[in-house]
Amino acid sequence: MKRTKNTIGKEISLFNLKSEYLLIKHQIDKAISKVLLSGSYSLAIEVENFEKELAAFIGIKYCIGVASGTDALTLALKALDLKKGDGVLLPANVYPSAFGVTLSGVKLQLCDVDPNTLNLSVESLEKVCNKTTKAIITVHLYGNPVNMTEVMAFAKKRKLFVIEDCAQSMGAIFSGKKTGSFGILSCFSFYPTKNLGGYGDGGAILTNSKKLYKRVKSLRMYGEIARYKSNEVGHNSRLDEIQAAILRIKLRYVNRWNEKRRKLAFIYREQLKNLPVKLLKEEQEGKSVYHLFVVYVNRRKALTRYLQKRGILTGIHYPISIHLTEAFKYLKYKRGAFPVSERSNRKILSLPMHPNLRENQVIEICKNIEDFYRSSSTVNS
Ligand SMILES: Cc1ncc(COP(=O)(O)O)c(C=O)c1O
Repeated sequence: MKRTKNTIGKEISLFNLKSEYLLIKHQIDKAISKVLLSGSYSLAIEVENFEKELAAFIGIKYCIGVASGTDALTLALKALDLKKGDGVLLPANVYPSAFGVTLSGVKLQLCDVDPNTLNLSVESLEKVCNKTTKAIITVHLYGNPVNMTEVMAFAKKRKLFVIEDCAQSMGAIFSGKKTGSFGILSCFSFYPTKNLGGYGDGGAILTNSKKLYKRVKSLRMYGEIARYKSNEVGHNSRLDEIQAAILRIKLRYVNRWNEKRRKLAFIYREQLKNLPVKLLKEEQEGKSVYHLFVVYVNRRKALTRYLQKRGILTGIHYPISIHLTEAFKYLKYKRGAFPVSERSNRKILSLPMHPNLRENQVIEICKNIEDFYRSSSTVNS
C-alpha cells in the first residue's frame, strides 16, 4: 500500500527494536564479544548471573533460564506433576499462552475476561472451575497486573496452584509487589518485543520453592539430576550465554524504559479520552508497564487502513480466541462460550508503544485517529 507520510514525516511502527539496540549498542556488542571470546556458549557464567539478577529484581529466591516463554509454561506445569486430564484455567483471549500450557499434557480449561481490563474475570473462574481443575494461569495481559489478591483468595479456597504468566509484565507491580512474586511459579518470555527482550528467544521460570527449582532445572536439561544421570525424559530448553549477556544489560534499563512507557500511556489517555475509543482500565492497586497500548475501536479495519496510509502501523493482540483457533477446536467449546473475549477479538487495536516512541509521535497518532472519526462521521451523517 502506498503510504502518505504523517506530519512528522517518518513511519511510526508498533515496536522499534533497532532504535533500542542503537541506544545501548556499545555495551551489547562488548557483551556479545566477551561471550564469543570466552568459548562457553551454553549454561555458563552469564546465565548463572542473569538468573541471580532477575530473581533479585522480581524479589524471588530462584530463577531458571529456559529457551522460551512457551517452554517456561510447559516446564512449570510439568514440575508440579500435573497429570493428563488435570484442568488448568487460562483466559480465552491469550492465544500465545495456550501452546506452552497444552504441551505440558494438561487439559486446557478456558475462562472469560473482564471487559475493562481484558484480564481474567474472577466471576468467570467461579463458573468454569470444576473438580478436575488443579491450577490457574494468571496472564498479566499487556503489562497490566491481574488483581492477585482476588485470584490468590479464590485459589486458596479451592486448593489450586497459581502460576503467573509474566511474559508481558516484566517489572509491573501489584499491591507493592512485582508480578511474578505471587504464584508458586512464574513464567517469563524474552521474545525480542517484550519489555525485557533478547535478540532471539529466551524465557525464565521463578519460584521460592527449592524443590521446584531443582525439578525445573532438571527438566530444562534432559531430566538430569547429575551429568548423564537422568531419571525422567526431560527437555532441552537451555537459555544461551549470548542471550543471557544481552538480557543482563537490558535488565538495568527495564525500570527506566517502563517509566517511559507509562508516560506515553498517560499522553495517549489524555489525547484519546474524548474520542470514540474505549480505553482499558489499570487495576486499582496495579502499576501497568504497558507492554502494549490496546484500545477498543469502532470500524477497526477502516481505521487501521487510514492510519497505515499515513505511516502509522498498528497491531491486533489477539485477533482470535483460543477456543476458535483450529488447533484448539478439540476442546469442543462453542462460539459464544466466552463472549467478552470473542467481542474483544473484533474490536481491539494495539497502538504504537515502545520506549523510544516520542511524545509528539503519540500526539500525532491520536490526531490521526481523531481525523479519521471526524471524517467518517461526516461521511456517515
Ligand atoms: C502472554 C504470553 N505468554 C506466553 C508467550 C510465549 O512466549 P514465547 O514466544 O517466548 O514462547 C507469550 C509470547 O508471545 C506471551 O505474550
